[in-house]
Amino acid sequence: MRLSLLLRRLPRPRLLARRIEHLPGIDLRHGVFHLAHPGPEAAGHLGDALGAEQQREDAHEDDDLPDPEAERHPLIVAATGAAAASVPVRSENMEIPGFVDVHSHVVPSGDDGATSIEQGLELCRLAFEAGTRVLFATPHAHAAWDTYPRTPARERIFAAAYPTMRDTVATWGLDLRRGWEVYPSVIADSDPFELRLEGTNAVLVEFPGWWLDVADAIPLVTAACERIEAVGLVPVLAHPERCPAVSHAPELVAPLAERGWPLCLNAPSLLGEHGVISERTAWRLLDDGVISLAASDAHRFERPPTLDRAFLEVERRYGRDRALPLFDGSALRIDA
Ligand SMILES: [Fe+2]
Repeated sequence: MRLSLLLRRLPRPRLLARRIEHLPGIDLRHGVFHLAHPGPEAAGHLGDALGAEQQREDAHEDDDLPDPEAERHPLIVAATGAAAASVPVRSENMEIPGFVDVHSHVVPSGDDGATSIEQGLELCRLAFEAGTRVLFATPHAHAAWDTYPRTPARERIFAAAYPTMRDTVATWGLDLRRGWEVYPSVIADSDPFELRLEGTNAVLVEFPGWWLDVADAIPLVTAACERIEAVGLVPVLAHPERCPAVSHAPELVAPLAERGWPLCLNAPSLLGEHGVISERTAWRLLDDGVISLAASDAHRFERPPTLDRAFLEVERRYGRDRALPLFDGSALRIDA
């Protein structure tokens, strides 16, 4: 089992962080722990720290108060270097194929995602080490009245970063592609072909979230999907579980799925990282069988581009045969 999985399952990860942050060979950068030299020595230090933490847990079995800092400081341990690249994501002792992540903000574009090439590359490294092999950078294309509309200035920021990042991560074996996360009303004034997920016939459409006061979210999304479909493309619907209209009435999205429009959960929603309402809605939509994909919607280190934990949780509940197609790109015919 990967160390990151093992550690993040522990209660009180912040306390554990304090125990291991001064150990030799462990480097803390941007809230992410990296193993400078993956190998027996580092593993030994971590094993000692984990054992000590487990003993502490055993001594406080009735103390189940959550660590209030855990949500704000998720603990990730990332091994760096060639040794790490060879560590596969494993499930029940079976190596799984690479993940395909169609939604992230890992390339700087002037939105609320990565702010530098260096930061973006660190995020890509986390994705790669957690098993992702195809990662789409999908900057926001907001409506003109919103925070991050698509502008020439933002396109220049992206264009200045993307080729360097793409070529760098390709040397690791990570296929970084471009796309957009498009607010539904933007579709009416755009050429959908310009907004495609690179190498596919799909356009990622943003389901309006709780942070927007949108009363007609589902008709708005439906109209955008119809326009995309009319030109021969496929709309992929991002994070329906974060839309209040869907949380209130999850059955309303079934007609969208029945029209062949893939619905794509945010994987962090499945882990409760977008709050209890999104978590409950995400699992309900999975239960209903209307979800085709899961993606990270990664923005930064607090919202990293990792899919491994969500995959394992879906697999635990539904089995591998049902979990894998949500994560391996097969829904969009993308090979990892
Ligand atoms: Fe996003």
